[in-house]
Amino acid sequence: MRCRKCGKKAVINMRQHRLSLCKQHFLEWLPNHILRFIKKYEMFSEHDRILVAVSGGKDSLALWDILLKLGLHTEGLYINLGINAETAYSNHSMDFAQKFADQRNLKLHIADIKRDYGESIPEISIRTRRGRDKPCSLCGLIKRYMMNRFALNGQYDVLVTAHNLDDEAAILLANTLDWSLEFLARGEPVLPSKPGFLKKVKPFFRTYEREAAAYAILRNIEYMRDECPFSIDSKQLYYKKYLNEWEEKQPGTKLRFYLKYLNAIAQGAFPARQELAQQLAQQRCPQCGQPTNTGSLCAFCKLFDTNI
Ligand code: AMP
Ligand code: FES
Ligand code: ZN
Ligand code: ZN
Repeated sequence: MRCRKCGKKAVINMRQHRLSLCKQHFLEWLPNHILRFIKKYEMFSEHDRILVAVSGGKDSLALWDILLKLGLHTEGLYINLGINAETAYSNHSMDFAQKFADQRNLKLHIADIKRDYGESIPEISIRTRRGRDKPCSLCGLIKRYMMNRFALNGQYDVLVTAHNLDDEAAILLANTLDWSLEFLARGEPVLPSKPGFLKKVKPFFRTYEREAAAYAILRNIEYMRDECPFSIDSKQLYYKKYLNEWEEKQPGTKLRFYLKYLNAIAQGAFPARQELAQQLAQQRCPQCGQPTNTGSLCAFCKLFDTNI
């Protein structure tokens, strides 16, 4: 396997792009590839203040590295979820994020659910009896809420997450199997700002997980390799496994699945979207002021409501 650009030994073969590259050319290619789609989808520009949500894992640190390389103004946000029994997963992940930031003289903000709201994810999950052995969907809700609040309060222009194509394809598969229209209506890589919500973008939406991992390793980025202890046997990993099998047989399956979904959205396949946005804009959570579509406490504040 030889590099398409220089003929040297290739380090990665991207069958879906019919492209093999050596280390040097891969490290040049990926940031340019990302930049192309940042521009095409008008995610952000060099004038914007960008908040990158970093988990300490390979994807978010690789993406932060690429955004730096592209000369953008970024700050990081790490949310300590308090998943610290046995493996100290959250604290270790935070150390990787902090070390990355310190080595590059970058600003990393730390939000901490236990410090700010009095309980860790496992504690909230036990008290509310929501997904006790698998608090992943609860955790997703809390992360989305805290990221958005922090980004709004800090008056950033845009919030960036490092969801990659494997994440997006697995989420899409799960939402399709459930016909979850509310989520299917907002799976795009750019969600424009609206009252109470900052613009949110996913520059890695076309990047395979193995490309992000290869980039992190080739750049010698130290990252958290352990998975969250709750993700073992999770539905998302299960869907990723199937998608990988299909990808193996038919390279490009994940990319086609997600891009054709984006085409379907563009053609108006999910008209519920506009109505939902309007409902959201009209009603506010009496506790925190975030828009909700229920007229009462938002899903986040409900978690801490002692009246239920
Ligand atoms: P996940 O929800 O774990 O699939 O992660 C998706 C993306 O959310 C990551 O690529 C990060 O950009 C962001 N993220 C996940 N966990 C955290 C965290 N604890 N703190 C800040 N950002 C996070
Ligand atoms: Fe949230 Fe695992 S990171 S439950
Ligand atoms: Zn080369
Ligand atoms: Zn609220």
